[in-house]
Amino acid sequence: MRHFTSVKQLGNWQDAYAAAKYVKENPFADQALGKNKTLLMVFFNNSLRTRLSTQKAALNLGMNVIVLDIAHGAWKLETERGVVMDGDKSEHLLEAIPVMGCYCDAIGVRSFARFESKEDDYNEVILNQFIQYSGRPVFSMEAATRHPLQTYADLITIEEHKKKARPKVVMTWAPHPKALPQAVPNSFIEGMELAGYDFVIANPEGYDLAPEFVGNARVTHDQDEALPGADFVYAKNWASYDAYGQVLNQDRNWTVTTEKMALTDNAYFLHCLPVRRNMIVTDDVIESPQSLVIPEAANRVVSAQTILKQILQSL
Ligand code: CP
Repeated sequence: MRHFTSVKQLGNWQDAYAAAKYVKENPFADQALGKNKTLLMVFFNNSLRTRLSTQKAALNLGMNVIVLDIAHGAWKLETERGVVMDGDKSEHLLEAIPVMGCYCDAIGVRSFARFESKEDDYNEVILNQFIQYSGRPVFSMEAATRHPLQTYADLITIEEHKKKARPKVVMTWAPHPKALPQAVPNSFIEGMELAGYDFVIANPEGYDLAPEFVGNARVTHDQDEALPGADFVYAKNWASYDAYGQVLNQDRNWTVTTEKMALTDNAYFLHCLPVRRNMIVTDDVIESPQSLVIPEAANRVVSAQTILKQILQSL
């Protein structure tokens, strides 16, 4: 594997799960792979889990790690070609990217949707420029439209806890005060297709995700209709796709509560974190024994390490 931008690249799910299980059980078995190799992690946005888990994964593989926060300490970057740079942006991404490539062997990039242009976001302009101009293997640490390392960790967590071969998984929209990207839910849909679980998306009217991601997945606008029989409830907020980037609704009837979880088949609760308590999910649900948010976050090391290992093997 050279670049990693989507869980669809995992290919066969059983093989991808076996690879992750090996890494989880043997975290230091491949230290020689990363010796004298440097990972550069570039953040255009904030992060707690991705930053720490990917760094830990690289250290487990024997790599050196450099972290660059674009907003803190780097020159302010221009991203558009053709702009007369007479403003506050001192450096163009088209020089910055190949320069970054000179200092490392692989690059992880976090670049959220900017909600300025649906076309630019869905064309993954920033991530693709890194792929085109860095000269290095590039992997997504959450880009505008996908968060594949998160989804890989979600799938590992479901696989570890499922009680039937093909569990029912409900991904439900839940309210949030700000406009959040669609990367996590888009990627999760790809993951559900990969794993072949019984999958339902529940979201209010106006929040249907991009048709190219939804594909043939079942969608309902009635959360109470989706939850019965669920083995896993994956809660997430996202901004509207049709009214691109807008918050249309903060209906607390979509918050995942104990009463909502009682409709399920004693489902586990999942969320990628960070989570707004008592907007997305109530305190009692996230603190319940059915909540998997911490093991899910822990599996971020496993997903990152499994992908980094494959990138190192390709060098
Ligand atoms: N889930 C996730 O990617 O968390 P961070 O934004 O903290 O990295």
